[in-house]
Amino acid sequence: MKVDVILGLQWGDEGKGKIVDVFTPRYDIIARFQGGPNAGHTIIFGGNKYVLHTIPSGIFHPQTLNVIGNGVIIDPLILYREIDKLREAGMEPKDNLLVSKRAHLILPTHRLMDAALESGKGATKIGSTLKGIGPTYTDKYGRNGIRVGNIADHDFNARYEKLKAEHLEIIRHSGFDYSHHLLDSLSFDTYEEKWFEAIRRMKELKIIDSEIFLNQSLDAGKSVLAEGAQGTMLDVDFGSYPFVTSSNTITAGVCSGLGISPHRVGIVYGVFKAYCTRVGSGPFPTELHDDDGEKMRVGGMEFGSTTGRPRRCGWLDLPALKYSVMLNGVDSLVMMKADVLNPFPAINICTHYQSGNELLESFPFELDDQKIQPVYRKMKGWNADLDNCSQVSDIPDALAAYIQYIEEEVGLPVDILSIGPDRLQTLER
Ligand code: GDP
Ligand code: IMO
Ligand code: MG
Repeated sequence: MKVDVILGLQWGDEGKGKIVDVFTPRYDIIARFQGGPNAGHTIIFGGNKYVLHTIPSGIFHPQTLNVIGNGVIIDPLILYREIDKLREAGMEPKDNLLVSKRAHLILPTHRLMDAALESGKGATKIGSTLKGIGPTYTDKYGRNGIRVGNIADHDFNARYEKLKAEHLEIIRHSGFDYSHHLLDSLSFDTYEEKWFEAIRRMKELKIIDSEIFLNQSLDAGKSVLAEGAQGTMLDVDFGSYPFVTSSNTITAGVCSGLGISPHRVGIVYGVFKAYCTRVGSGPFPTELHDDDGEKMRVGGMEFGSTTGRPRRCGWLDLPALKYSVMLNGVDSLVMMKADVLNPFPAINICTHYQSGNELLESFPFELDDQKIQPVYRKMKGWNADLDNCSQVSDIPDALAAYIQYIEEEVGLPVDILSIGPDRLQTLER
């Protein structure tokens, strides 16, 4: 068997969580392969809304196992907040949740470092979610990190204290005054206390060699779906660097983040919104600063699932989408939030970038909003409600034409169309 993949093709928040949840009944195992609690994956069904940050989005199907892979970084306190919320809703995630021993831990001081680094950057700040992502991956690659598999070690506390002391030294050196800095409205000491409580509680979880488990499961004929976090334009190598996250969000990340050989990668589903959003700083060629942008933000409820920040909104960007498709080897497209464009009489779609007199066909090294202007093709809007569409043949002609144009440009089929946030508002072609 092979590992199918669902990942984001834009700047995150494409609707990956919803689609993973919709696909889960077809798979035995769902596995997150990178990122950490910077992610916020929303799943809505039965009138309830859930937002997951660390736990894979297959958790609502008790017959499916959910693996937090080695490429993920975990803040135990945030993980336990999620587990407790699921328990309050009557679920028991412990039963179908597995955690890799090799996943790295986000320490409270990683979060302080994130805040110190961002504050030091001033106007050039990345707009990080401040969950400690950059500093934790830095320690992983600098070979200083502490992993989930270490939590039962006799010297765990000593290692923690040593790394904490190193972090505090760096923070002091940066001049950042952390003495009153709050972590999720908690003082550092309270956060740290709760963090240790969560570490103790983690011992109840199934902590495994996930790479062996996943490969053996594939050998035994089990089906696996890998769930991405963030999006391709936030990839540390190919995103709009340095305004990116600190992991490989692309298909390649599945191999290193789960311990899967490239031969075992199956169908890659690329998820994109019918328009674009971005939260945090960095270039965004098709960003709208007008009423249309506001209409998308309000209609699409474009406020961050993790931080609540308003998301920047703009038209669909085909050069960026084609670049993402190339990097990920996408087989099948999933278009989300078509319904948000319902009220628009006309829709723009960026086909190229103009740089001086040059028309750019390929994606540039640096996306500089000052130097690059989007070139748009104007299309007719459908200007109609999609609530009564129960199959693709029901959609308005103008929406069908919009999809067909994207398919022709990108060279791939849009196999799934999402027309609302609920699990059930999903059309398969
Ligand atoms: P993820 O990070 O990729 O999982 O996406 P998020 O959950 O952060 O953001 C997607 C947002 O759009 C969530 O609030 C979803 O409930 C919502 N959503 C998903 N699909 C649709 C859709 O087709 N239409 C509308 N209107 N909302 C959607
Ligand atoms: P999901 O999985 C959207 C953005 C942040 C910031 C940059 C770096 O829900 O799609 P970081 O905290 O990683 O240091 O932030 O990346 N970012 C996301 N934007 N969706 C996400 O995840 C994101 N995770 C990080 O806003 O600009
Ligand atoms: Mg999100």
